[in-house]
Amino acid sequence: MINSKFLVLFYLFNYATNLTILRKLPDDLVLASASSSYQIEGAWNEDGKGESIWDRMVHTRPGRILDRSTGDVACDSYHKIKHDVELIKSMGLEQYRFSISWPRILPYGYANHINMRGVQYYNELIDELIANGITPVVTLYHWELPQIFQELGGWTNALIAEWFEQYARVVFDHFGDRVKLWITINEPKQICSFGYAGGTFAPALEISGIADYMCARNVLLTHARIFHLYKNSYQSIQKGKIGITIECSWMEPATNSTNDYEAADRARQFDFGLYAHPIFTPAGDFPEIFKKFIAERSRAEGHQQSRLPSFSESEIRNIRGTADFFGLNYYSSRYAKDIKPHPIGKPSSLKDSRIEIYTDPNWITGADPIFRSVPWGLRNILKYIKHNYGDMDLFITEIGFPDYEKFNDTKTVKYHNDHLNVVLDAIHLDKVKVKTYTVWSLMDVFEWTRGYTLGFGLYHVDFENDNRTRTPKWSREFFHTLATTRTVVQEI
Ligand code: BGC
Repeated sequence: MINSKFLVLFYLFNYATNLTILRKLPDDLVLASASSSYQIEGAWNEDGKGESIWDRMVHTRPGRILDRSTGDVACDSYHKIKHDVELIKSMGLEQYRFSISWPRILPYGYANHINMRGVQYYNELIDELIANGITPVVTLYHWELPQIFQELGGWTNALIAEWFEQYARVVFDHFGDRVKLWITINEPKQICSFGYAGGTFAPALEISGIADYMCARNVLLTHARIFHLYKNSYQSIQKGKIGITIECSWMEPATNSTNDYEAADRARQFDFGLYAHPIFTPAGDFPEIFKKFIAERSRAEGHQQSRLPSFSESEIRNIRGTADFFGLNYYSSRYAKDIKPHPIGKPSSLKDSRIEIYTDPNWITGADPIFRSVPWGLRNILKYIKHNYGDMDLFITEIGFPDYEKFNDTKTVKYHNDHLNVVLDAIHLDKVKVKTYTVWSLMDVFEWTRGYTLGFGLYHVDFENDNRTRTPKWSREFFHTLATTRTVVQEI
């Protein structure tokens, strides 16, 4: 096993051309790892589980997935509770974030039929974690909508808030005695932009500038409804915390021009502000600039009213303040540039925003060029959140990098070491209250439209082998050492 001395030498020889110092993590920074149900569980139709929108998409439109794979078996984690918990425990990580599959416990979507075998699976997982001293953090929705609700419009149907409430009650009733940290919804942007506009994530619709905005509105109303449900009916007894997780990329102006500064701000509002502003600002509602650009473009297209559906005053009040913490997923950053208006035609959110987004090819890249290491972007986003959304506890609920290397993932190690340094800067210099650092992902998983072509995991998984053998990578050794020494290396 690698010890801390080895790690330090490793850094000195591999990265640190300059002098290095060792930095301690604050005692209250929790180290965690994460996964999500569809990406690891497998057992897609076992023990009474119902069909989700991802099951439907991978089975009927295999070409949507890069390697034409499915999550039917994935990491087979449904059958490996003890083994997986041991993987976490052996590293010394204190928390594990996972999600519940809605159709596993409610196969028909509605709560009139509860699949007790599905409930039993999560009970066993939660109990095993707690027995091993690992705190469970549970996401209610990491994209597994029961297929029946998609046929009724999915996230474009306002009734989704009622359907979700039925599901959330079942979850809180069965698991809330032991689970004290809840995330209602993982990454609204990926649900709405990729699922309803970009044609990539299930249900893979391509109705940009319309369906994605309807989705955004319903995601926010649904999140707020579940927050209030927990506050009013469960929190006083169960004593947990509840929030939402938003993926934020830092958007840096392409140049020093005023236009590009404004474009970068617009990019932030179109990327994450539309979800964060209604919840985390005193004004609430969608951001002004976001509303203005969509309204203007809608008018130019001859619409009587904006394509962006609005919130009533009472809805704004209802959504505002609905989080006990800020759940941040961070992977990478982008440049944003102002561009001329597109000619009038088919609407799209990109045309509404009037920006061009790109990355710098010099940034260290992983197995997919979208994922580039930009530590200073994390620092900026942490400051931005504190400044714009409030000085509250901030949980990094996902952060990760997919190395090219299957086992010797030294770029991933460097990525985490660099980003942990930035977290320390943000805590000590900017006084941001970062309380959790959650690595995506515990092991290699089904990476949505990229199938099994990207490995973010601390453990490599052999997807060719029936046992789905897990093998530790260098990054796993790094986190084990980190959990033991609570020290990172900084180049000076
Ligand atoms: C998602 C994960 C995903 C990861 C890497 C995040 O957007 O929450 O489910 O696997 O990015 O692609």
